[in-house]
Amino acid sequence: MLADQSIPAFLYGTAWKEERTASLTELALRIGFRGIDTANQRRHYFESGVGEGLAAAYRAGVAKRADIFLQTKFTYQRGQDHRLPYDPNAVLTVQVEQSLASSLEHLGADYVDSFVLHGPASGHGWTVEDSEVWEAMRNERNAGRTRFLGVSNVSLRHLEQMEATGAELPAFVQNRCFARFGWDRDVRSFCQRRKIIYQGFSLLTANPEVLRHPPFANLATSLNVTPAQVVFSFVRAVGILPLTGTSNAEHMKEDLASLDLTLPPEIVRAIEAIAG
Ligand SMILES: NC(=O)c1ccc[n+]([C@@H]2O[C@H](COP(=O)([O-])OP(=O)(O)OC[C@H]3O[C@@H](n4cnc5c(N)ncnc54)[C@H](OP(=O)(O)O)[C@@H]3O)[C@@H](O)[C@H]2O)c1
Repeated sequence: MLADQSIPAFLYGTAWKEERTASLTELALRIGFRGIDTANQRRHYFESGVGEGLAAAYRAGVAKRADIFLQTKFTYQRGQDHRLPYDPNAVLTVQVEQSLASSLEHLGADYVDSFVLHGPASGHGWTVEDSEVWEAMRNERNAGRTRFLGVSNVSLRHLEQMEATGAELPAFVQNRCFARFGWDRDVRSFCQRRKIIYQGFSLLTANPEVLRHPPFANLATSLNVTPAQVVFSFVRAVGILPLTGTSNAEHMKEDLASLDLTLPPEIVRAIEAIAG
């Protein structure tokens, strides 16, 4: 783990909220989230709505910019629709600069805390395009427009190939975390060995078989918590920084309250063994 107190224990995800993005971002901050995940990808995120939510929270005295961990992403054109945050004819280095400049404008910020490559150019491995983008992202970091860098939707192969190019490794990896693949065991163990923080998303939606598993549901009942709280507490126990994208105020409170739940090691091992 990065020895950085500014990285919160939970990230609030802003995908798929459209016109509710501003009010839900503000609500999440009011309820106590201090980590916000977004992307400059209008197809799935409404980043300027996140900026409106932040501005409302600042005005109301809920939090200051310095209290918040803000994370956004650079998305290749193939992951976007027609609403691009950069000139598609520009070289990738310029697209990265334009994307982050547009994010900062959307977010009303002069820096983000983390800038993430939304996904590599190819599902099969780390490419020359990825190296160019990564170098441009490093330049943004060196210029002070982001504190940390991350990569998302990566396999172990991507990470190993990235490392083999001699590239600086990311501070964060953000992946969909399937219980049936040992909760992304291979990528997590790569991250652990290199002190990369692993951020997990779709922790509930990707793993319905775990939530439905009778011993798991019984465990939640016996602890007087919800199955979602057990999942969030479990993932934290194995070193995953969780994201939640709930649109429900009660679920926001429930998710944050899971920070107070510590599972005994034998339960953590049992959950790890349910699937994968
Ligand atoms: N890097 C990437 O490519 C990528 C891809 C996908 C997502 N993300 C990020 O991850 C964030 C989270 O996305 P996600 O895929 O994990 O799914 P999510 O958007 O968090 O969806 C969770 C679903 O579970 C439901 N739910 C029920 N009980 C819940 C509880 N206690 N807490 C939370 N949800 C509960 C939610 O419904 P209610 O709304 O009714 O609670 C919602 O339908 C996104 O917003 C985005 O920021 C990144």
